[in-house]
Amino acid sequence: MIKNLLKNKKQILALAPMDGYTDCAFREIVKKYGNPDLLFTEFVNAQGLIRATDKLVDILRYTEIQRPIAAQLFGREPEYFYQAALVVCKLGFDGIDINMGCPAKNIAGKGGGAALIREPELALDIIKAVKQAVADYRERLSDQNDLVDLIEKKKKEWNIKEDQSREITISIKTRTGYDEDITEEWIETLNKVKPDFISLHARTFKQAYKGEADWGAIKRAVKVSKVPIIGNGDVKSFADAQKMFKQTGCSGVMIGRGAVGKPSVFRVEEKVGFKSGDIEPAVIFNNSNVSAKGACLRRQGPCQEAGKPASGWKTQISEAGKIVLEHAKLYVEYKGEKRFYEMRKHLMSYFSGFEGAKKMRVKMSKVNGLKDVARCLS
Ligand SMILES: Cc1cc2nc3c(=O)[nH]c(=O)nc-3n(C[C@H](O)[C@H](O)[C@H](O)COP(=O)(O)O)c2cc1C
Repeated sequence: MIKNLLKNKKQILALAPMDGYTDCAFREIVKKYGNPDLLFTEFVNAQGLIRATDKLVDILRYTEIQRPIAAQLFGREPEYFYQAALVVCKLGFDGIDINMGCPAKNIAGKGGGAALIREPELALDIIKAVKQAVADYRERLSDQNDLVDLIEKKKKEWNIKEDQSREITISIKTRTGYDEDITEEWIETLNKVKPDFISLHARTFKQAYKGEADWGAIKRAVKVSKVPIIGNGDVKSFADAQKMFKQTGCSGVMIGRGAVGKPSVFRVEEKVGFKSGDIEPAVIFNNSNVSAKGACLRRQGPCQEAGKPASGWKTQISEAGKIVLEHAKLYVEYKGEKRFYEMRKHLMSYFSGFEGAKKMRVKMSKVNGLKDVARCLS
């Protein structure tokens, strides 16, 4: 499915993997209201995955309508990547994405994520191991029966199908360098083992999320790469995505923070699902609220800055409320209500930039379950 997409679609739009955000419920909402071409799961530890615990495998939960979807793995040992890739294939995913971009201490500090940029040979070995797993998985899963049983159980529980004729893609998500920008050299290195595509967040490890993403680096990557490049970094609207396509010539644009609180960001109208009175949806669902630490910061929308509350705000709240309730219900369906506090950041992000939004955010910051959400909205 992803191979066809790469072959046939000129401008691919993808939802970025975001730990703590892009879980099954959020992806379902994004698919429904934004319909991007490609989705990624949150990252999962390759070594952990093969320990076959329910909890870790559940990070990968997805539904059939989310296709095409790639599962993202992180780690640093090729042998664990091999085993974990077998699991991902067996779970029926359309692609395996390898994280070579995460700057977090608990990942890059342990030699995974962006730290792999400093170890190109190891990075290539990891890609080769994943390729091998994709070639082998039909015949060879691990000999751990408990893992095989768990995969079968999950497939039934999630109601998903493993289609063995599916061509599974192998992709890399990375940055422009570690301490400094080495885009061309790094992209050429990755090209040696021909991944199906590379997603490039246009910042170095050192920059983490600071400053502006350097779209010029994406353009340079496109020039040297023989495989498609998906550009990423600071795309906050459909119009931004068009700008990135135009400025860089990339094959796809990946949107992360821009989709939080605004799942329709992938659509030209940016509005589907939100018939929200007479102010711009891009303003209503202002989405600069997601920080890398997962915090949800308040930012006023232009209509408030102009000191003129938008009219129709009750409609806006009620329209935002519909999606909020839908999202919350999906979360409970997939994960239960025990850790519902995880949903607060999402629920808050739908209320921004219109009169009454702050009040709603404060309410959403305290909810502990579906009943609370419904009460806040009533
Ligand atoms: C809260 C958060 C969690 C993230 N988790 C992941 C992850 O699991 N895997 C990954 O490759 N990138 C992760 N990223 C990076 C994003 O995929 C993306 O590269 C980055 O946010 C820049 O794109 P944006 O400006 O569109 O948000 C994360 C970013 C944020 C803000």
